[in-house]
Amino acid sequence: MKIFKDRKNLQREISSTKAISFVPTMGGLHKGHISLIKKSKKTKLKTLVSIFVNPKQFNEKKDFKSYPRNQKKDLKILKNLKVDYLYLPSIKDIYGFKPKKKVFLDKFSKQLCGKYRKGHFPGVLNVVNRFLDIIKPKKLFMGKKDFQQLYLVKKHIIKRKINTKIVECETIREKNGVACSSRNYRLNLRDKKVASKIYFYFKKIKQKFNYYNPNLLKKEIIKLGADKIDYIQFYNIKDFKRSKKFNKYTRIFIAYYLNKVRLIDNI
Ligand code: PAF
Repeated sequence: MKIFKDRKNLQREISSTKAISFVPTMGGLHKGHISLIKKSKKTKLKTLVSIFVNPKQFNEKKDFKSYPRNQKKDLKILKNLKVDYLYLPSIKDIYGFKPKKKVFLDKFSKQLCGKYRKGHFPGVLNVVNRFLDIIKPKKLFMGKKDFQQLYLVKKHIIKRKINTKIVECETIREKNGVACSSRNYRLNLRDKKVASKIYFYFKKIKQKFNYYNPNLLKKEIIKLGADKIDYIQFYNIKDFKRSKKFNKYTRIFIAYYLNKVRLIDNI
C-alpha cells in the first residue's frame, strides 16, 4: 500500500493509472468501511482509500475533537485488505486549492440532518467535490447508512456532470442490529443495548404498523433509553416526500443521542 500525504504526489502516481476506485473515510474504520473496500477491490480498478477527518462538516467543535481516531489500527486494516493507495491529507492539502467545479447543494440538504447540523452537508459536499477533483475516480463507493449524504453526492455528480459512478452499498450491521459507525466506538455496553433495542423497535414498526404517529414514536424511543431525539421521520424514497402512511417505498429516518453520541439510521 502506497501512502500519500500530498495531493500532487498522489496525482503524479495515479495519473498513469486512470482507473481508480475511491472509498472516502474519516478513519475509525469498521465493518461498514471494510465491506466498501472489499467491494471496491472486486472491481478491476486500483482502490484508493482516504482518511481525513473533515473539520468543515462538524457543526460542533467538541464533536470534531472527540471523533474517534485510531490511525495505527486503521493502517493495519488497510494493509491487510491490500488497498493500493491511502491518501492521508492535511487540512492545507485539501483546502489549499480552488476546485474546478462548484458544489451543487440539492434542497434535500435542508431536511433531516441538514436541519439539525447546520453547515454539515455544505461541508461534506465541499470535501467530496475536492476529492473528486484531485482523484477523478471512475467509481466512488458509499454506504446507504448515510442515506442523505449519498443522495446529495449523487445529485452533485449528476448536476456537475462529473465522470464518476457512485456505487451504493447496503448498510452493514452489528450482530445486535446496530448500523456500523465510527461513532459506535464511543458507546458503552448499556448504550449498545439501547441502540439495539431501538433498531428492533423500528423494524417491528415497519412490519406491523401502517401509520406514522410522531409523538408516540418519540415517547417509545425515550422509554427505550435514548437521551434526546433530533428526528424520526418517514419518507417515500421514490420522490423524497414525507409520508404518514406506509407503502413499499417508505423509509424511517432517525437521529438520536445516547449520552453525547449522536447516531443516525434509516430502516
Ligand atoms: O461519510 C463520511 O465518512 C464522510 O462524510 C466523507 C464522505 C468521508 C466526507 O468527509
